[in-house]
Amino acid sequence: MCGIIGYVGRRDALDVLVGGLNQLEYRGYDSAGVALANGADEGAGSDADGAATVDVDVVKRAGELSALEAALEERRPSGTTGIGHTRWSTHGPPTDANAHPHTDEDGRVAVVHNGIIENYDRLKDELLAEGHRFESDTDTEVVPHLIERELEAGAPPETAVRRALEQLSGSYAIAAVVAGTDAVYAARNDSPLVLGIGEDGYYLGSDVPAFLEHTARVVYLEDGEFVRLTPDSWTVTSPDGNPVEKQIDTVDWDLEDTGKSGYDHYMLKEINEQPHALRQCLSGRVDELEGRVELAELDALLQDPPEAVQFVACGTSYHAALYGARRFRDRGIPAQAFVASEYATEAPPTGDRLVIGVTQSGETADTLSALREAQSRGVETLAVTNVVGSTAARECDHAMYIRAGPEIGVAATKTFSSQLVALNLLVEAVANGSRSGDRAQSDRVRERLAALRELPGQVQQILDESNAVDVARTYLDSSGYFFIGRGYNYPVALEGALKFKEITYEHAEGFPAGELKHGTLALVTADTPVIAVVTGDDEIARKTVGNVKEVEARDAPVIAVTDGRSDVERYADEVLEIPEAHPVTMPLLANTQLQLVAYHVANELGRSIDKPRNLAKSVTVE
Ligand code: F6R
Repeated sequence: MCGIIGYVGRRDALDVLVGGLNQLEYRGYDSAGVALANGADEGAGSDADGAATVDVDVVKRAGELSALEAALEERRPSGTTGIGHTRWSTHGPPTDANAHPHTDEDGRVAVVHNGIIENYDRLKDELLAEGHRFESDTDTEVVPHLIERELEAGAPPETAVRRALEQLSGSYAIAAVVAGTDAVYAARNDSPLVLGIGEDGYYLGSDVPAFLEHTARVVYLEDGEFVRLTPDSWTVTSPDGNPVEKQIDTVDWDLEDTGKSGYDHYMLKEINEQPHALRQCLSGRVDELEGRVELAELDALLQDPPEAVQFVACGTSYHAALYGARRFRDRGIPAQAFVASEYATEAPPTGDRLVIGVTQSGETADTLSALREAQSRGVETLAVTNVVGSTAARECDHAMYIRAGPEIGVAATKTFSSQLVALNLLVEAVANGSRSGDRAQSDRVRERLAALRELPGQVQQILDESNAVDVARTYLDSSGYFFIGRGYNYPVALEGALKFKEITYEHAEGFPAGELKHGTLALVTADTPVIAVVTGDDEIARKTVGNVKEVEARDAPVIAVTDGRSDVERYADEVLEIPEAHPVTMPLLANTQLQLVAYHVANELGRSIDKPRNLAKSVTVE
């Protein structure tokens, strides 16, 4: 997830771009950059006649926006047409060279991009063979080179940009400027991009806050639409070039909340970003037809797939690891999950060819220390992380990215879901390489991959239809909360309770459903709701319903999170519905409902949701 801003008009574009990047920094803070078109630049070189040689002037820096601002104090390009970008790395570490905008060789075309270009490898090979030279590790850099190729073939700028975009597959929001024009060209496909219609020019943003201080009049773009902005006009066309009639909406947003895109809290925003985050995690990695997962970044590991794996992780990531270990075991690969801070104190477990650290931040001290412990025993390590260039990513032998985009709320939400999807991909990729698939097995893999593909839409359905706010209001004053689930729903019960206590400050505990009766049942009363995750109608579901009856008999209110296939609703006071889905994806759907319950209880209680007391986003001490 990166942030894009663009402007064409009568103002100084640089001020608009830097102001917009400040609003978008929550979308990524690995690097930032701007490109101004038609700007005469005092610091730039000049040709023999003394005329400025710079038509597209790029300034970009690795690090937070402040690094770019410092660079702009040294050298300030001017102009009234420009694009800007704040980066969340997906291809290549956060360096100056990998920062956007990216240019063609002559510096005549500059491009910013949010998303993932799935076929960039092939395009890059093609361009390299034609003699193009690349400076970055990014997927984005192919785009200015493709535009350059079209320009050299004689296409006018707009046609060149369109033709270049036609060659891309994947998800993108892209904006481009071309030397000698005062236009910004842009398009979207599966990544957000909005247009702002101002008095003194036209704006582009990944998000309305990028330009809200200048205009509240916005045009929402659809996938496949192409935009051309000039100082006097804005046009939107369909992929085949026909004009599209667009409606101008007026947003009624408070500038103060802008980084949250109108949501009251980052946590709620991030819960709502899950469909997009999951699509990003899957993008370019699944070949459903073949029933295969391709994880290019793990080629070296997958050439000789591990026979057994161990996971180390903390908190929410540990719950993802518990789920991941079960997925590996179900696929016939021995696996265990360890709380990272305990890992070093146990006798070195046997058969640990690969130790996988699951860590959103890649900076959690306990997890790093467990990974180092594994390395000291000569074991290979893999980081499953959200942060490119994080310590875990750098120190481990291998890294796989969950691509959830930056998570600002302290409570992990979209990153947990993305971890579950990433671990599903990982298990299939490891099993691809290590097992010769029989036909029935291949069919089952295809079913699971299809189920992963359906997840974003199913999560969206829950977000649209959830009654979690009503359930939350009904049980606000309870004295404690228990979360139960079996099998794949056990880690979800633990995660539901952790999220709940973390942001509501109320006592909550998660259990394997069968375990509650071994002591904790003594605490269950009419004042302690039991939140039971019951999915499917198999033996596991039937046994969990049995445990629900046990608490119901003790007068505990029962809140069932269910797809309706068991008869748990008969014993439930409240139902939080999820769509029917594959057994491996239902836990993630159930978890979405639990995130919403925790959020709404905390909100009703007026808690500090994004920064709960005593907690930090990244725990860098052991
Ligand atoms: C809970 C939460 C924490 C983290 C834990 C590990 O919402 O966010 O429990 O999951 O501190 O953090 P990472 O995944 O960054 O290693």
